[in-house]
Amino acid sequence: MAALHAPEEPSVRAHLSSDHVELERTLERLIEAFEVEDREGVSAAWTGFEHRLAAHFDAEEQLLIPAILPGNPRVAAAILAEHRHLRARLAEIDPGRVSLRIVRAVIDELRAHAAHEDRVLYVWADEAAPESARSSLFQAVGPLPSPDSSASGRTGVVK
Ligand SMILES: [Fe+2]
Ligand SMILES: [Fe+2]
Repeated sequence: MAALHAPEEPSVRAHLSSDHVELERTLERLIEAFEVEDREGVSAAWTGFEHRLAAHFDAEEQLLIPAILPGNPRVAAAILAEHRHLRARLAEIDPGRVSLRIVRAVIDELRAHAAHEDRVLYVWADEAAPESARSSLFQAVGPLPSPDSSASGRTGVVK
């Protein structure tokens, strides 16, 4: 099926996948702060990560999930269940006591969730989501990171 959006418009898949990368970069900064025992840096990076992830989840839940729900309730329920699980995991973590082990576990869980969304939600969104939902989604998540953002002290996605 042909995409319904104009070719110059960023795809949902590209835009939200870039936001996933930004989330990982935030956790990478957190790991860097760990390595120099900068507890304030760890706490600040964790708070920034939580805020960005909350905005990302909220945008998906308010703008994408309602659009996919009528045609594919099983996918909608699965994504919402993963969001609930991740929110519960984060709620258990004390930013002042977050450990490297916990951060790496969160990264693994987020990657699994991102891969799932990429397969079942973002591809569908680019083909079938209403234009209004896509436009609102891009605004809610914010601008795409610049291509050279890794040059400003960022070293890329956590491996
Ligand atoms: Fe999500
Ligand atoms: Fe996502």
